[in-house]
Amino acid sequence: MRGLALTSWLLLLASVVNAGLVDDIIDALKNAATCGSCHTLLVPLKGLAYLGDGAFTKAITAVCTTLNLSDDDVCEGAIGQHGPTLAYDIREISIWGKMGDKLCDAVFGLCQPPAVIPYKVPFPKAAPTNPKVFKSTGKAPFQVAHFSDVHVDRRYTPGADAICSKPLCCRNYPGQTSPPAQPAGPNGDYNCDTPPSLADSMFEAIRRVAPGNKFSIFTGDVIDAAIWEISKSTVTEDLEAFNNQMASRLNSPVYPAIGNHEAAPVNAFPRDTTAVANAQWIFDTQSAGWARWLNTAGVKQAAETSGSYSLVVPGTNLRIVSINTVYWYKQNYWLYDTDDAPADPNGILAFTVKQLQEAEDAGQRVWLVAHMPPGRQDALNDQSNYFDQVIQRYKNTIAAQFYGHDHRDQFALAYSDYNKRTAENAVSMGWIAPAVTPRSGNPAFKIYDVDPDTYEIMDARVYTTDLKEPGFQTTPNWKLYYSARAAYGPLVSGLKASDPLGPAFWHKVTEGFERNSTAFDMWNTFQSRGAKVQACDAECKKTTICNLRALRAENNCDDSKPGLQLKRGEPESDRVRDADLGILLSKATVVLSQKNPETEAQLADLKKKLHEILGDAE
Ligand SMILES: *[C@@H]1O[C@H](CO)[C@@H](O)[C@H](O)[C@H]1NC(C)=O
Ligand SMILES: *[C@@H]1O[C@H](CO)[C@@H](O)[C@H](O)[C@H]1NC(C)=O
Repeated sequence: MRGLALTSWLLLLASVVNAGLVDDIIDALKNAATCGSCHTLLVPLKGLAYLGDGAFTKAITAVCTTLNLSDDDVCEGAIGQHGPTLAYDIREISIWGKMGDKLCDAVFGLCQPPAVIPYKVPFPKAAPTNPKVFKSTGKAPFQVAHFSDVHVDRRYTPGADAICSKPLCCRNYPGQTSPPAQPAGPNGDYNCDTPPSLADSMFEAIRRVAPGNKFSIFTGDVIDAAIWEISKSTVTEDLEAFNNQMASRLNSPVYPAIGNHEAAPVNAFPRDTTAVANAQWIFDTQSAGWARWLNTAGVKQAAETSGSYSLVVPGTNLRIVSINTVYWYKQNYWLYDTDDAPADPNGILAFTVKQLQEAEDAGQRVWLVAHMPPGRQDALNDQSNYFDQVIQRYKNTIAAQFYGHDHRDQFALAYSDYNKRTAENAVSMGWIAPAVTPRSGNPAFKIYDVDPDTYEIMDARVYTTDLKEPGFQTTPNWKLYYSARAAYGPLVSGLKASDPLGPAFWHKVTEGFERNSTAFDMWNTFQSRGAKVQACDAECKKTTICNLRALRAENNCDDSKPGLQLKRGEPESDRVRDADLGILLSKATVVLSQKNPETEAQLADLKKKLHEILGDAE
C-alpha cells in the first residue's frame, strides 16, 4: 500500500465508509418500526447529513423516486425543500436525546412525545382576587365573520384535469398530454384548492348575510398546497394578492393570523435564534399587507413579534390578540435544531402574557386569534402546556379563542383540572373554523353573534356552498348550513336565551354526544360540511370527544404510533399530506419492510443509485 497518495487513501476510505452507509441506511429504514429503531435510523442519517445537504437531499430523493412513493417532481420538490433543514437538525442534535425523540415523533410518528419539560410561565401580577365581572345588559349582538384555510390557488386553471396523480389537481402541469379525464370547472373541485373566484363569491356572501359585520377574523393559511413547487417569490406574491383581495371585497376590517402555509418551504419558520435562516420576510410582507386594518403599534408588533399583534377594536372594549402558534407546531422542522430548545421560542408566550396583562389592567376582554389550535396531536406538548398556564391565569379576561388549521369545523375546551373535565371546570373554549378550500369538504365560513358587553358568543352560524349543486360552477350558492344554538341547544337542558355558547355549554354538548349518537353523527357530518364525510365508529367517537376536551395537547387521546403520521392532521382524504417529507420517509419505511419481488428489484436499484450519489459526495 506504500506509495498510495494520501488523497487516494482518503478517497478509498470515504468510499468504504459510504459503501457501509448505504447498507446501514437501507437496513435502518427497513427496520424502523419503534422509537428505539428510529433513533438507530438517525445514526446513518447523521453520517449522511455530514456528507452535506446536497448528498442528504439527493439520497432521500432517490429513496422517494426509486420506491415510487410519489411523482418524481413531487419527490424532488418536497425533499429538495425540507431535506436541508432535516440534515441540519440531525447534525446539530444528539441522536439519543430528548430532541431525537421529538424528531422521531414529528417526522416518523415512531416515538411518543417525551414528558413535558417543567417550566413556569412568569406573570407580571398574580390573578386578581376580585376579577372584573363582565355582565350582559341584553343589547342586540353584533356580527363578526370568521374564515380560515382559504388556500387560494392562483395557478388554478379551469379546464385542467381535476383527476391527476399529484396531491393537488386543477393545474396545468408540464408533461400532461392526454385530454383531461374531468376538466375542472371555474369555481372549484374537491381535489383542488380554492380558485380566486370562489374566494370572491365567499366575500360577497359574507357581505350579503352579515351586512353590518363589525370585522372579520381570518385564521390563516393563504397559500395553495402544491407545497413541492412553492418558492419565496410565489408565496410573497400570493400573500400580497390575498391581502388585496380581502381589502377590496370586504367593507370592514380583517384581523388575520399567520398560518403554517405562509412560509416557503411550507411550515419552515426558523426561530429568531436560528443562525442559518430566518422568516422575517413573511412578517414584513404580512405586517405591510395588514397595515390597512391594524393600528401603527399593531403593524410594528406584527413585524417584530413573528406576525403577532394586539389591538383594541375601535369603538369596543375588546382586544384582539393574534399570535403565531407555528412555533409550537410539530411539523415546523426548524424547532429540532438544538438539544437546548428555548421554552418560549420567539417570545410568543411572553407577548401574549404582556397583552393579556394590559387588557386585565384596562378592564378589557380579549379574543385570542391564531392559526394552529395548540391542543391537537400536531402541537408540541411543552408549549401547549405553557400556553395552558396562560389561559388559566387570564381565564377571566379571555372571552374566547379562535383557530383554524384543522380544516374541520371543531372546537376545543380547556379545564381548570384536566383530571376532572366537567362543565364546572371548563374555563376556556377555542372555536376551530372549517376551511374554505374544497379539498377538505364543502367551503364554509362562520358568522358569530357577539354580546357587546361581554364579547361572548351568543350563536355561530355556518354558511356553506355545495360543490355538488348543479349551479355551483356558474354561481356558488352560499346558504345557512346550521346554527350552533339551534343544532346543539336541545342537548343542553335548561339553556336560557341569554346564556352564551361558552365553555360550560360546549362541555355539556360533548356529554350530549356521549348520550346521543344521532347528535354526534350530525356533528361529524358538519365537520366537513356534508362532503368527504369520514365514518366515525365507537372507538373513533371516544377519541374524538376526548380531543374536544383537550385544548392542552398532553391531554388529547391521539397517540403517536407507526403509520399515524400517514394520516395526521387533516382528513385522510386530503392527499396533500402525501407531499410531506415526513410522510414520504414513513412510506419508505413501510415499503422497505415488505418482502415482495417488486420491492427486491426496487431495492437493488436503490442501492445502485445511493452508491452513485455517495460516490459523488466526497
Ligand atoms: C408508480 O405509482 C403510480 C401511482 O401509484 C403508478 O400508477 C405507477 O404505475 C407506478 N410506477 C411504477 C414504475 O411502479
Ligand atoms: C338526539 O339528537 C337529535 C339530533 O340533535 C335529536 O333530534 C334527538 O331528539 C335527540 N334524542 C334524544 C333522545 O335526546
